[in-house]
Amino acid sequence: MLIEPLGHPGREFGAVIHDLRPEELRTEATIAMLNDALARYAVVGVQGMPLDDEAQLALADRFGPIHQSILDASRRRLADRRLNDVGNIDVKGNLKDATAPAYGDSNLLWHSDLTFLARPARITLLSARALPPEPPPTEYVDMRAAWDALPSDRKALLASLEVEHSVLVQRAKCGFTDFTDEERRQAPAVRHALVRQHPVSGRRSLYLSSSASHIVGWPLDQGRTLIEELLEHATQPAFLLSYAWHANDLLLWDNSVTMHRATPFESTEHRRELRWTAVVEAA
Ligand code: OGA
Ligand code: MN
Repeated sequence: MLIEPLGHPGREFGAVIHDLRPEELRTEATIAMLNDALARYAVVGVQGMPLDDEAQLALADRFGPIHQSILDASRRRLADRRLNDVGNIDVKGNLKDATAPAYGDSNLLWHSDLTFLARPARITLLSARALPPEPPPTEYVDMRAAWDALPSDRKALLASLEVEHSVLVQRAKCGFTDFTDEERRQAPAVRHALVRQHPVSGRRSLYLSSSASHIVGWPLDQGRTLIEELLEHATQPAFLLSYAWHANDLLLWDNSVTMHRATPFESTEHRRELRWTAVVEAA
């Protein structure tokens, strides 16, 4: 087993693990090693780790409670609500229609997973099941480095702020604004601290996502402006990691200290199929 840091030397953001055998995933030592690597590098790729659904769920279960989708079954491809489908496959298992208006989805926006829930995703596990010949990378930003780089008077202003998050805000950014009263009722806004401290590394980080609406207790406009400014700051190239996918990659990331986004991929020939499982924050 070998851990190879990715990205800028001297900056601990992104690593890949080589030569880990599938049966080693079951050991305490491997789970501890992955938790350590996540606390340090935030984004960790395990190369050459083919997983089926059962093995992915068994692994996710070792990190904490697994998120269950509440989406209506008619809008889901997979029967098991603990697994989501990421890629370009529609609910019937065919390639998505690249010309359909809904094709570009909210994964293209900078986000952290499930930030619109009271218990958002802590760790996401994403395993590559089928990749096109030139797979689009997934991009990450280091929200710890983004925090570190802020001037100290700015840090003092931000440290105690709370952000209101809503899935409706996130969807509106992709052009979906037609929500029924029932949908609005089922998606109440939640609040999260803007600045977090990691329980293991002790590092502080900004916590934002495309669901971030405004700052609690501030005039809406002023809060939105601040959020936009911080998103712009955090998504500078200096804080970026672009993850190049390989066949049988398993990627894990700590959502509490990162944001990520998909990069555009439209194909009428090649399948891109990944399985997503999220471990949520402790209650
Ligand atoms: C995700 C996600 C990005 C991608 O799986 O949570 O945002 O590149 N995916 O598919
Ligand atoms: Mn995501």
